[in-house]
Amino acid sequence: MKQLMAANWKMNKNWSEAEETASALADAVRGRLPEDREVLIFPPFTALKAVADAVQGEPGIAVGAQDFYPAENGAFTGEISPGMLTDLGVGYALTGHSERRHVLEEDDSFVGAKTAFGLGHDLRIVLCIGETLDQRRSEQVESVLSRQLEAGLAELPADISGESLVVAYEPVWAIGTGEVAGSAEIEAAHGFVRKKLQEMISPIASEIRILYGGSVKPDNAGAIMALDNVDGVLVGGASLTAESFSKIVLA
Ligand code: PGA
Repeated sequence: MKQLMAANWKMNKNWSEAEETASALADAVRGRLPEDREVLIFPPFTALKAVADAVQGEPGIAVGAQDFYPAENGAFTGEISPGMLTDLGVGYALTGHSERRHVLEEDDSFVGAKTAFGLGHDLRIVLCIGETLDQRRSEQVESVLSRQLEAGLAELPADISGESLVVAYEPVWAIGTGEVAGSAEIEAAHGFVRKKLQEMISPIASEIRILYGGSVKPDNAGAIMALDNVDGVLVGGASLTAESFSKIVLA
């Protein structure tokens, strides 16, 4: 299984900024990326083509979309289909990101529908899950992760490979706050996710990469990557410059 170092640029960067950052990142990691590690960039929709072109032919660097709509085409004003993304060279997409759940009010069943639809339409999916601070304080971490995994993976296509599905554990209270989860908290959550995947989809559970996300920075990435069941990271703020993100990628 290849470790996955993912950059989520969120609603940042215009076309030229995205192209410049992606090219600088490719320059910084070229020839230095370990064989068992890959890089993934999630730019905003408007910069997908710029980034796909900038990293084309770079070994180990893929491009993903932050969102999509679960239909092939039709009357869905403002939405983007998986086919429109794969046509641009996009290989991955996010589902269930905390900001889509909490700001855009996407519910568990919509996240599940998107995950299944994307997987059935040639996208690899990074399904994001994670508890809020209130849920952690009231000891609901496992029940929240369980519910989000069950709903998120409810309609999985039968023949998916372990490589095509990635789960990102992102505690909501650690996203963009500078407050990273502790090692014991990360290992406990990732161990629980692995166990749950084994119960739900045992043939591929051990091949599914489980990423940690939430205030990952160059100075904590190495320690996080060394934890049990951490197969990569999903990085927001610290992925916005090539200088910072390349240090995380090579940590
Ligand atoms: P952050 O964001 O690294 O800025 O905390 C992570 C994410 O939202 O994926």
